Amino acid sequence: MRTLVGNSKSPFRMENWLADTSLQRKITLLVVLVTLIAVSLTYVAFMVYDSRVAKGQLVTRATTLAELIGDNCVASLSFLDPEDATRTLNSLDAEKDIEEAVLWDARDVVFAAYQRQLGGRVPPLTSDGHAFTERHLTVTRAVLMNGEAVGHILIRTNLNQLASRQRQYVTTALLLLLVALVIATALAAKYQVIISKPIVSLADLARRVSDKKDYSLRAEKRGKDEVGYLIDSFNAMLSEIQRRDTDLVGAQTALKERAFELQQELVERQRAELVAATMKSYLQNVIDSMPSALIAVNSAECVTQWNLQAERITGVTRNQALERPVNEVFPMLENAAALIQTAIVTNEVQKLERVRTNLGDDARVRDIIIYPLITATVQGAVIRVDDVTDRTRMEELMTQTEKMMSVGGLAAGMAHEINNPLGIILQSAQNIKRRVSSDVPKNLEVAQRINVSLDELAGYMRERGIFEFLQDIDEAGKRAAIIVSNMLNFSRKSDSDRSSTKIEDLLDTAVQLAANDYDLKKKFDFRRIRIERDYGPDIPPVPCITTKLEQVFLNLLKNAAHALADFHTGDQPQIVLRTRALKRDVRIEIEDNGPGIPAEIRRRVFEPFFTTKEVGTGTGLGLSVSYFIIVDNHRGTLEVESEPEQGAKFIITLPVDSE
Ligand SMILES: Nc1ncnc2c1ncn2[C@@H]1O[C@H](COP(=O)(O)OP(=O)(O)OP(=O)(O)O)[C@@H](O)[C@H]1O
Ligand SMILES: [Mg+2]
Repeated sequence: MRTLVGNSKSPFRMENWLADTSLQRKITLLVVLVTLIAVSLTYVAFMVYDSRVAKGQLVTRATTLAELIGDNCVASLSFLDPEDATRTLNSLDAEKDIEEAVLWDARDVVFAAYQRQLGGRVPPLTSDGHAFTERHLTVTRAVLMNGEAVGHILIRTNLNQLASRQRQYVTTALLLLLVALVIATALAAKYQVIISKPIVSLADLARRVSDKKDYSLRAEKRGKDEVGYLIDSFNAMLSEIQRRDTDLVGAQTALKERAFELQQELVERQRAELVAATMKSYLQNVIDSMPSALIAVNSAECVTQWNLQAERITGVTRNQALERPVNEVFPMLENAAALIQTAIVTNEVQKLERVRTNLGDDARVRDIIIYPLITATVQGAVIRVDDVTDRTRMEELMTQTEKMMSVGGLAAGMAHEINNPLGIILQSAQNIKRRVSSDVPKNLEVAQRINVSLDELAGYMRERGIFEFLQDIDEAGKRAAIIVSNMLNFSRKSDSDRSSTKIEDLLDTAVQLAANDYDLKKKFDFRRIRIERDYGPDIPPVPCITTKLEQVFLNLLKNAAHALADFHTGDQPQIVLRTRALKRDVRIEIEDNGPGIPAEIRRRVFEPFFTTKEVGTGTGLGLSVSYFIIVDNHRGTLEVESEPEQGAKFIITLPVDSE
């Protein structure tokens, strides 16, 4: 397509102008041009033909004249009479267009001549024939007498007549052309419509279609010519476009609907994703807020899920743990590795109960449960690790308490029953001693009456060691009495003598008592033991039976001192007395750095009569009595923490509120 800008700048060019001119003009122009060319060519052909005919006629006439004049001059030539010949030649004066005539004799010497305008030069003799110059025709003929040339004659004619005739023709031609032009223009203007109208209306239709994008418009067919064919094709093309346009509109509508659907789907999906994300974070929160460590692994035993509790236990974050072998990040599961495989293979839950794990600095007891996880897409296992340390301890404590209470009840009942015969035994032994004494008047009186010497009897008894036996009975009886009185502690007493007391004061008194006790027996110097006091701030007074609590502390101190006689860690035997105020309780710890207690003994230390000491050294009642005083009389707790060679720590908690 040529742009207007390009056209406006370029110089005028015919083809540009033609390309931009309307069809009507082009047709008109064509008709006029064709008419002009046809008329011109016809006329030129006619002119050429006419000029040739005219020239032929001129030659014929001139030749005839030459022959005629030549014949008339034969006599003159024969008789050598130039004047007669001149007269004959001058007769040509009547012929307006003859300008010159010359007669030569047999020797080619000019014999006579005629010139319409005198003074001109006589032309030379040429061979017979004729020749045209621009303005003249020259004819030369031989003058014959009896078939023999007696001279030559030349006639020169001007071509004025021919020229004026041609001028007339040109004028006529121009006029004719003008007329033809007018007629052609008129006809073209009238009849070009037949050709141009269907094309113009087609062009108009095309413009309307392109402007309005209305493909339902159709061109009207007027004939079966090429334009008719063009219109048919154009209409067919429009139908095709209309069909495609309809299809396109349909497709567009479908596309819009699909786009809308897609948008809806997207919104739906985003909503679902949001729900899924919320759900995921909710589930993660649920998993994280569980007190159990939850670890999911795939079939290769690599971590796929790691909750907060697992993070807390191991100190390994979720990101660090994910996709790593579970053994590396959760070493306590090393022996559980085989169980994971078993769970996956057999699809059965696997359990490891009461596993003592050492992660971090405190030993904990844990249950490990492995659930197989087998779905269509995932194969692996979920490992649940529960810290059951407290529960285990609680269970142990409850078993302990139950056992103690039943044993305690039995022991207290027994003590009660033994008390009476023991009283009789002791009293009887006293009576025996008293009734052989010479200091009692009644004894002397009875001895005199039956004639026995009391001094001799005393001597006999001394001699046979009977007094020692009596002393033994007394001592053993008193020891038994102490045991019995201790055993009576197993049954609850009235708490009438309960008072709010500062625990620290009781502890200090117990330390003093222990020091005196050991001073006496000299078995072990209590003062060699460093007593470290770690008393917490703001320890509230505790409602208690002070003598009983003192007894408990003394028992614990004595046990510690006894243990420290054999062994201690660190540079010096040491006992730490520690107090702490808890929410509702006061916690008291008595900790030594002695040999500690192995697990199998630790479980039994609170049992009545359980001792590891030699017979006679320990009764095995110290801790059991203490236990009853704390648990039964004071509603507190007494526990022991100890490992071999790590010292022992006895922990008492006492409620601050007596209720
Ligand atoms: N601090 C301690 N260190 C090591 N072992 C201890 C400690 N305290 C108690 N025991 C162990 O607990 C056992 C029971 O103690 P308990 O006080 O009940 O009886 P005992 O001390 O043997 O006898 P008793 O207290 O009548 O003299 C002891 O024999 C001892 O083996
Ligand atoms: Mg003891």
